Amino acid sequence: MTEKLFQNDDHREIRVWCDGCYDMVHFGHANSLRQAKALGDKLIVGIHTDEEITKHKGPPVFTEQERYKMVRGIKWVDEVVEAAPYVTTLETLDKYNCDFCCHGDDITMTADGVDTYHLVKEAGRYKEVQRTAGVSTTDLVGRMLLLTRQHFRQGKYEYDVAKEHSSSMGTDSSARSPWTGCSQFLPTTQKIIQFSDGKPPKPDDKIVYTAGAFDLFHVGHLDFLEKTRSLGDYLIVGLHTDPVVNQYKGSNFPIMNLHERVLSVLACKYVSEVVIGAPYTVTKDLMDHFKVDVVVHGKTFVMPDVSNEDPYRVPKALGKFITVDSENDMTTEKIVERIIRNRLEFEARNISKEKKEMELLRTLKQKEQQQAVIV
Ligand code: CTP
Ligand code: C5P
Repeated sequence: MTEKLFQNDDHREIRVWCDGCYDMVHFGHANSLRQAKALGDKLIVGIHTDEEITKHKGPPVFTEQERYKMVRGIKWVDEVVEAAPYVTTLETLDKYNCDFCCHGDDITMTADGVDTYHLVKEAGRYKEVQRTAGVSTTDLVGRMLLLTRQHFRQGKYEYDVAKEHSSSMGTDSSARSPWTGCSQFLPTTQKIIQFSDGKPPKPDDKIVYTAGAFDLFHVGHLDFLEKTRSLGDYLIVGLHTDPVVNQYKGSNFPIMNLHERVLSVLACKYVSEVVIGAPYTVTKDLMDHFKVDVVVHGKTFVMPDVSNEDPYRVPKALGKFITVDSENDMTTEKIVERIIRNRLEFEARNISKEKKEMELLRTLKQKEQQQAVIV
């Protein structure tokens, strides 16, 4: 258990407030919520409406209903407040009995360039957590629009992405925003430990196994995993490797590489354990190893394996296979289609967000230099 870092004088529970767009929820968002939760007892997350986001930042990829549901699915979140105001006020914190507001160490501005946290900062009710470098909605949208495949490869990524963005933002890394400009996400074992429950199944637990790509973890996956988890007590999710996913999905899929998908799935409250690089065919060995009681797949199409056979033939023959209907028709491909359809709007949004950040960075640097001269 993480030791909480703050204590009230009267020792009542500490309620932490976070707010944001949480568009195309990714493990960067989840990591900020994990850190925020560790600062108190209860985590309350306010989410902005589509209208507010469109006004200040440009149209979100996901609707507010989808975004509310996704954040509710993150395991560190206790409550979601719908339609939270874009500028965080003391009234909002008080209304939900929150001690302070917490945000990543980047900068969020209104359409007029006002810091959305200026009120809570002035009142001393603001705390920062560390933003996760190398992942942002902006970057994911970029991967889809540019059809890059560099996220499969480690190392070359930063250089290639900078090169691909050169038409709009310049090639050298000093010309990119340190917040949303792409840098490579560096996965560590520490991050996996922080995200995982670390709990083995109990002896009598019914163990459920499912496998897939779970690329750009979305509401369809969430609904599927909720139903799948309800079939047992302990849910193991097997994630296929990038080459395997690419083999059956083609193009530049998966949009998120294996490490990134591991964290996205681990952040989901229905998931107990993840197999990193699960075999495409569910074998008897795998089922025995994890003591699997039931294997589940959704209603989406299943590609045959390398022997041109059903990858679920073993659990089917054992009478241990169930098809679950998520009743949700969202797919990773649909998300990409949404982005491509609104390509120009999203490109404009990305460029404008980064330009704003660059302007702010220049102002901060100028202030720093002036202060250095005075000293
Ligand atoms: N966040 C983070 N790490 C990231 C991305 C976001 O810690 N890589 C945090 C932000 O600092 C904020 C919260 O997630 O505290 C919600 O962010 P959001 O309002 O959705 O906006 P952005 O920061 O713009 O997210 P993105 O860059 O992904 O669009
Ligand atoms: O396509 P992918 O491999 O990411 O899917 C992972 C699992 O989620 C599969 O079992 C798939 O059938 C299920 N799914 C679902 N409903 C959706 C999307 C995926 O049941 N809308």
